[in-house]
Amino acid sequence: MGRKFFVGGNWKCNGTTEEVKKIVNTLNEAQVPSQDVVEVVVSPPFVFLPAVKSILRPDFQVAAQNCWVKKGGAFTGEVSAEMLKNLDIPWVILGHSERRALLNESNEFVGDKVAYALSQGLKVIACVGETLEQRESGSTMDVVAAQTKAIADRVSNWSDVVIAYEPVWAIGTGKVATPAQAQDVHDELRKWLAKNVSAEVAATIRIIYGGSVNGANCKELAGQPDVDGFLVGGASLKPEFVDIIKSSEVKKSV
Ligand code: PGA
Repeated sequence: MGRKFFVGGNWKCNGTTEEVKKIVNTLNEAQVPSQDVVEVVVSPPFVFLPAVKSILRPDFQVAAQNCWVKKGGAFTGEVSAEMLKNLDIPWVILGHSERRALLNESNEFVGDKVAYALSQGLKVIACVGETLEQRESGSTMDVVAAQTKAIADRVSNWSDVVIAYEPVWAIGTGKVATPAQAQDVHDELRKWLAKNVSAEVAATIRIIYGGSVNGANCKELAGQPDVDGFLVGGASLKPEFVDIIKSSEVKKSV
């Protein structure tokens, strides 16, 4: 049983009502491989989620970009996992490096969020990745393992988790990881999961790459054996996102 290719579009804090409609129209008209080949999930800002869900083609899904760490209540400005579930939002992105860095989300906090979201029936795109400084000091795998361990300590069922490996130095910089760099970390991460979680989880979990993926570099990255898809930021707002979805076809020939 192969791992189904997964392409996520992280729209981040972008868009107006009009722009969002335009992006959805482009996606709705696109000719892409079938749902058996690729799972497509787009993640608009919270305020656009219901509108996007209502007009998006049914073979594509939506994700929130974050949710609160536990049950809702007196937490001004937060959105709970229960609310996402109530709106039939199937996915949530957690632990994105922008939140880890700018909002000081620790590994433990992200682990708690992942566990809570899963307990409420959401599927999770859990993000991990090292900074340039960490890469240059040779600690990439230690950092990624520590981020993953904080999730592993709190989660026992990984079937609704996709791990997004997103090196911080590649996010929004135009400086994409080479296919070999991505493959290397994905492979190491799978080995870590085999050793610390289970051989089954290691073999079946999707590990997707994020960081300056675009229409031009996606095919070569998709050809790597342990790259199971992408989390795309900037290019997910553009028509070339369709080309990135189509890169899933590369897997057919490997
Ligand atoms: P980018 O962002 O594709 O703009 O580098 C990726 C991400 O942050 O998920």
